[in-house]
Amino acid sequence: ELPEVAASASLSPMPAATKDQLVAAWKRGLAAQIKESGALPPGNAKGAPAAWAKPNTGAAAAARRALSSPRTGSSSGDVEAEAVAAWRAAPAAERRRAAKAALEADASDAEAAFALYEAEDELGDGDAAVAALRAALAADPSHAAAARLLAAAEGGADAASAAANDAAGAAEYARQIFDGYATTFDEHLTGTLKYSVPKELALAADAASGGGRSGVDPPRYACIVDAGCGTGLSVEPFAGRADSVIGIDVSSKMLEVARGKGLYSTLLCDDLVSGLATLAQGQCDLIISADTLMYVGRLDGFFEQAERVLASGGVLAFSVESAERATSQGDAGSVALGEDGIGLQPSGRFCHTRGYVEGLAARSGDGDGGAWETAAEPRDVMGRMDGDKPVYATLHVFVRR
Ligand SMILES: C[S@@+](CC[C@H](N)C(=O)[O-])C[C@H]1O[C@@H](n2cnc3c(N)ncnc32)[C@H](O)[C@@H]1O
Repeated sequence: ELPEVAASASLSPMPAATKDQLVAAWKRGLAAQIKESGALPPGNAKGAPAAWAKPNTGAAAAARRALSSPRTGSSSGDVEAEAVAAWRAAPAAERRRAAKAALEADASDAEAAFALYEAEDELGDGDAAVAALRAALAADPSHAAAARLLAAAEGGADAASAAANDAAGAAEYARQIFDGYATTFDEHLTGTLKYSVPKELALAADAASGGGRSGVDPPRYACIVDAGCGTGLSVEPFAGRADSVIGIDVSSKMLEVARGKGLYSTLLCDDLVSGLATLAQGQCDLIISADTLMYVGRLDGFFEQAERVLASGGVLAFSVESAERATSQGDAGSVALGEDGIGLQPSGRFCHTRGYVEGLAARSGDGDGGAWETAAEPRDVMGRMDGDKPVYATLHVFVRR
């Protein structure tokens, strides 16, 4: 049943054992495991998950490795999801010990190196975190998350521009992160991180749609596209107000959660630009993209497809992370801002200046003032927390001419 941990499982048949005897045997196994690895095996931790500053990709693989004693049963039936949640709940110092032990056993284990990076980063040891990223990349040169975070840590406008231009790398990075984050995303975002973007964006989009097709308030839509739909939080404010809702996301695990909510008529597992490219010209009257474009970098492809897919009078509403705020905050020196106005932050996410977005909108169309009219002045909102720091989102809303 657990092929990925079978190599390290032990089997001790206890016919006719009482519950107390089984519990005692489990505790003995657990004690032996802690003695050996210095860490509590995932799935056995108590209490709420620790604050998690950013999603991680190393957790799943590291948790699988750390699962080295037979389990007493899985309450949700999803062993890997439980293992990941328990791994995340373990204190960073414990995860550091476990990741180091895994690296000592196999120095070419990229996921262990990445798990070490996450622990060091959380513990505030920047040099050790960067060294771990280098080790992850040396072990696996195609490790998208390690490459991105190393570029962000090393800084420089060239690194920011190179990352922003690499659309395929950006999509792969997002897929890695969000595939490992899907099961805890909703609770984490709306609880711990105080996520406000969907509500703010829906208000802005509704205001720009001029009362919607039917002129009633709140407006109705014929077809909404949610670009980077994730688990569906961003369309919840539009529930029951659209004839069709199309979600596009690169993470199949996020889409699985979204599918379960029944909010979308169509879900496409694709990069958002290529997903939009499969839709018909003028098919939609609203495109939203909440808390997604900071994973994308350059936005010209997104704008081109939005221009094609939106009907005249349709609304394009999205959030980006504010480059103006990012470069004026405490760690301003560590945000590499390229000349085009796209920055790469220590978090590995991009930020965009207002000028960059407005420039794209102005350059669109075939003359005659461009394809877009600004529906409302860009507005900054406190979009969510990242650890103990607020992340400011700039909301942009345009109407297709
Ligand atoms: C922070 S989540 C936000 C999800 C949702 N919009 C919300 O507000 O809850 C970002 C989502 O964007 C997706 N994403 C990032 N880059 C993408 C890309 N290039 N193409 C498609 N989806 C992408 C991720 O997989 C993730 O589900």
